[in-house]
Amino acid sequence: SDEQLTLTINGKTFTLDVDPQMPILWAIRDLLGLTGTKYGCGAGLCGACTVHLDGKPARACLTTVSHAQGKQVTTIEGLEFAELKQAWSDNNVPQCGYCQSGQLMSAAALLAANPSPSDEDIDSAMFGNICRCGTYTRIRTAIHDTAK
Ligand code: FES
Repeated sequence: SDEQLTLTINGKTFTLDVDPQMPILWAIRDLLGLTGTKYGCGAGLCGACTVHLDGKPARACLTTVSHAQGKQVTTIEGLEFAELKQAWSDNNVPQCGYCQSGQLMSAAALLAANPSPSDEDIDSAMFGNICRCGTYTRIRTAIHDTAK
């Protein structure tokens, strides 16, 4: 049953009447209208729904509203990623684009934790973000271009 819960998303506080077990993916997309976070598999397997919880990548389809309470939730709409965005554009990374906000959320979290990642670091950080179009090589190049 619904409860009143408070979420902090992209630095703003929202009070919602929701089932605390609802995945934050639906709160973000349907209740708050932030549609940059995508629904792919709904089972934690594809990474399309990746957001940050206190700066760390998390699958919004598996994260309940109650778990996200009290944490800083960041979506692609609130991510500061000018350099990564430029590198994505310079390398023409997206193809169909569907998975790309999740890819960018994971890449941004990686670079925040590790400003100059190796190929292995990139592969292990990006492993859970599936791209049906196979943009992996361009993603890796764009991450290297952004790395300090
Ligand atoms: Fe969440 Fe696929 S929709 S991991």
